[in-house]
Amino acid sequence: MTVQAARQIPYALPLIGDAEIAQVTEALRSGWITTGPKTTEFERRFADYVGASHGLGLNSCTAALHLALLGAGVGPGDEVVTTPLTFCATVNTIMHVGARPVLADVDPRTLCLSPERVAQHLTPRTKAILPVHYAGCPADLDAFTRLAADRGLKVIEDAAHAIGTLSRGRPVGGIGDFTCFSFYATKNLTTGEGGMLTTEDQDASERLRKMALHGMSRDAWKRYTNAGSWQYEVEAAGFKYNMTDVAAGLGLAQLDRFDHMQAVRARYVERYNQAFKDAGFELPADSDLPGDRHSWHLYVLRLDPMQLAIERAQFIDELKAAGIGTSVHFIPIHLHAFYQRELGVRPGDFPVTERAFSRMVSLPLYPKMSEDDVDYVIERVLEIASKYRR
Ligand SMILES: Cc1ncc(COP(=O)(O)O)c(C=O)c1O
Repeated sequence: MTVQAARQIPYALPLIGDAEIAQVTEALRSGWITTGPKTTEFERRFADYVGASHGLGLNSCTAALHLALLGAGVGPGDEVVTTPLTFCATVNTIMHVGARPVLADVDPRTLCLSPERVAQHLTPRTKAILPVHYAGCPADLDAFTRLAADRGLKVIEDAAHAIGTLSRGRPVGGIGDFTCFSFYATKNLTTGEGGMLTTEDQDASERLRKMALHGMSRDAWKRYTNAGSWQYEVEAAGFKYNMTDVAAGLGLAQLDRFDHMQAVRARYVERYNQAFKDAGFELPADSDLPGDRHSWHLYVLRLDPMQLAIERAQFIDELKAAGIGTSVHFIPIHLHAFYQRELGVRPGDFPVTERAFSRMVSLPLYPKMSEDDVDYVIERVLEIASKYRR
């Protein structure tokens, strides 16, 4: 028989309040529930927030990555250099456009793609560099934009974790050629499912807007309004990636409270760091470059096996028994049998990634948690750590 823990703290929960419900209700009552005025407003406000000229609202970050790769002209025969410490969508979308993902190890300091490792993997076939702002820590964009400029490559950022991340004082979103954000249910800003592609390239943004809606001519979504027309042209075999106004309504309300939600995350991180710094762990990776700011999407603690005599799996089980949900971000790409077969990668190829992966556990971190919840997580983690201290 399993005994229910005194408290249940799920790994993640969205912060949805009256403002989100009012926005969604407004969309529903308006009769306009697919792409429409709320999507347009959310695109403009989100792009402004991240310092980008153009924002394209989509139904996922995966869609944004796929379109960004097409916008960068990546296709069959091309290579895209990316990180093994990421979610499968980063690599799958490279494969969707017929290109080859080339993995390069991460920087031990940030756990983001290492510019030095990337430099070793560039070939005449390389078309783009695709860094991930892992957990919300800024990848070294200065280094990647320099590398790319020298060789005529594109920089596509996987910013699924990085709404609110600053790179050398600039918000992630207006720096690389294309930046891809996620509004998935667990993300710092959520629309349930959703994503946004930002770019400075107006032509690409117009082309990709069409590709996100079947390849139909511009503003085809307006065809059912008074301003629209029944006539449209199909200019390419596009996709169905558009954002709905129901989702955009959620996004608008989340954007209003985003700075507050980020401040709560940062406060909780400070508390976790203080509590765990001498308790047998390596604290989450962060950048120490001036002007860099972590968005704290994930709090990835690493167990130090020299100090703690407990395996990661058991640590997770003990937290689960205490009612605390956790996760692991991520099973590295090269440890999946599918990618080993497809890409010829194998265990041992990326030692920095593997070392971090074998020790990591993501703790609950979200603004819906109360201070009491944070206390409870700290107490249980410290209890387990002291029980297994070497
Ligand atoms: C690093 C990374 N890239 C891409 C994605 C895909 O995002 P979405 O679920 O919005 O397609 C995720 C999702 O969690 C992610 O963590």
